[in-house]
Amino acid sequence: MSDDRVDVGKLIRDAWNRDEPAGWFEEIYARAKNGEGRVPWAFMQPEPTLMDWINEVKLDGTDKKAIVVGCGLGDDAEALSALGFAVTAFDISPTAIDQCKARFPQTTVDFQVADLLNLPEAWAGNFDFVLEHRTIQALPFKLCEKVIGIIAGLTAPDGQVFVLCHGRDPDEPARGIPWALSSKELAYFEKNGLKQTQFDEYESGVRRFRVVYRRPAINKE
Ligand SMILES: C[S@@+](CC[C@H](N)C(=O)[O-])C[C@H]1O[C@@H](n2cnc3c(N)ncnc32)[C@H](O)[C@@H]1O
Repeated sequence: MSDDRVDVGKLIRDAWNRDEPAGWFEEIYARAKNGEGRVPWAFMQPEPTLMDWINEVKLDGTDKKAIVVGCGLGDDAEALSALGFAVTAFDISPTAIDQCKARFPQTTVDFQVADLLNLPEAWAGNFDFVLEHRTIQALPFKLCEKVIGIIAGLTAPDGQVFVLCHGRDPDEPARGIPWALSSKELAYFEKNGLKQTQFDEYESGVRRFRVVYRRPAINKE
């Protein structure tokens, strides 16, 4: 990640040296808000690959709950809300969440500051649709198994997890933020009780994966 005026690499290194692996996100959002650089991953629109899939499967959120992990500036959350989902969207950055509320003053999305590594217990198993868009890959690689376990754990029976990430082969080394994921790391979703229902690979600047999982429904018989 690079930006004309902010040395993102240095912000990351400094935060990691302070043992605050998520510490640099708030700094990027706060600086961008003050006109210093921009948020390198924010395009102020819902992710087109997500929107394509929503249209393909005719996703309907009526009477369903969705959660957006690391929601950034909120466009994906708003798109899910427009489908009828009751949406909770969280990010560790208070500035990002303030910006979401300022950008979407009429929103029905419940935008919250929360740390993926320390989520409210009531959220576990509570969502019909979980969106994970480029958060796992922005955290230290060693946290991968843990954060995938947490994200998978948000899914209700019969609920889905939609993952967008950079992709690599399992035998390719992971080269630094954003850490590309391979089938080896993605398998942690299945280890946590989900079933992969769709896997697409595509290029958009870099190799990317679009992966969908479902938690089996509870058999009522
Ligand atoms: C690369 S950005 C992606 C943002 C958005 N999902 C998108 O794709 O545009 C990663 C996001 O995750 C958030 N984040 C990082 N660590 C987090 C944590 N531990 N808990 C919650 N959010 C976190 C960051 O603040 C940032 O908004």
